[in-house]
Amino acid sequence: MTTVRAIPRDTRDILGEGLLWSARENALFWTDILGRKLWRMSLADDAICHWDMPEAIGWIIERAAGGFIVGLASGFHRLDLDPFHLELIANPQPERPGNRLNDAKADAQGRIWAGSMPFLEQPATNWPPTGSLYRLDPDGAISRHDDAITIANGPALSPDGKVLYHTDSRIGQVWKFALNADGSLGPREAHLHFDGTTDSPDGMTCDREGGLWIAFYGGAKVARFHPDGTFDRQIALPTPQITNVCFAGADLSRMFVTSAGDGRPDDTLAGALFEVDSGAIGVLPHQYLG
Ligand code: BGC
Ligand code: CA
Repeated sequence: MTTVRAIPRDTRDILGEGLLWSARENALFWTDILGRKLWRMSLADDAICHWDMPEAIGWIIERAAGGFIVGLASGFHRLDLDPFHLELIANPQPERPGNRLNDAKADAQGRIWAGSMPFLEQPATNWPPTGSLYRLDPDGAISRHDDAITIANGPALSPDGKVLYHTDSRIGQVWKFALNADGSLGPREAHLHFDGTTDSPDGMTCDREGGLWIAFYGGAKVARFHPDGTFDRQIALPTPQITNVCFAGADLSRMFVTSAGDGRPDDTLAGALFEVDSGAIGVLPHQYLG
């Protein structure tokens, strides 16, 4: 039987997101985008702490050289935690000041793939598709690889590094791209489609068999899809706004899931971090080489 455990914590995330397993620190990191917090849980003793951030923080990725890179509303930043030091690398979208970085992953070549979206949720009938998919190279160069997205979300890499999955949450679309060794992408291919309201694909990660795990905002679940796109199985969560999913632990057998408390004041589990018994094994996340 699948077990789901809410991690004990005296607070909830407004918009929990950006899960990262850090083998280097034997710790799980995640963000509260709208709460402007970076969270850390040690897997050695379950100790939880957080840092307040000056802006909305979408995600955190390790730098191979030490420290981290984080996606803030104003762009890519280097981050050291001890002592705390934050330094802007670049804003990929200075011409779109209403946007923020939302979700990202590093690839095997140490590049970062990061999507953007409007800072504020937009009216459903008039949501300008100003989101993009950017690549940050180890030398600091930034390029745009997809555009006209409403909510750019959940980049995930296949275990062999040859496929990049990306979603537009609001329209419920998951795309896949061939990821070439030189960092270029092949044509955007429709991979999976959902209704975008009760089943909005949010954060994603691949397990070592190439299964694609998707967190469903509004859907109260994470689900696994085979590499050919066929549905495999799903795990129900006790709150609907499920935002992100990652594998953690020395053997990558522990699955953690974030959620959003936003707009659900009476739901005591909305915004909790969950551990889920998924029966799958993950892939070590890549680091930024810049
Ligand atoms: C975004 C939220 C959005 C959610 C569901 C998250 O990644 O940060 O603003 O509501 O996805 O689409
Ligand atoms: Ca997300």
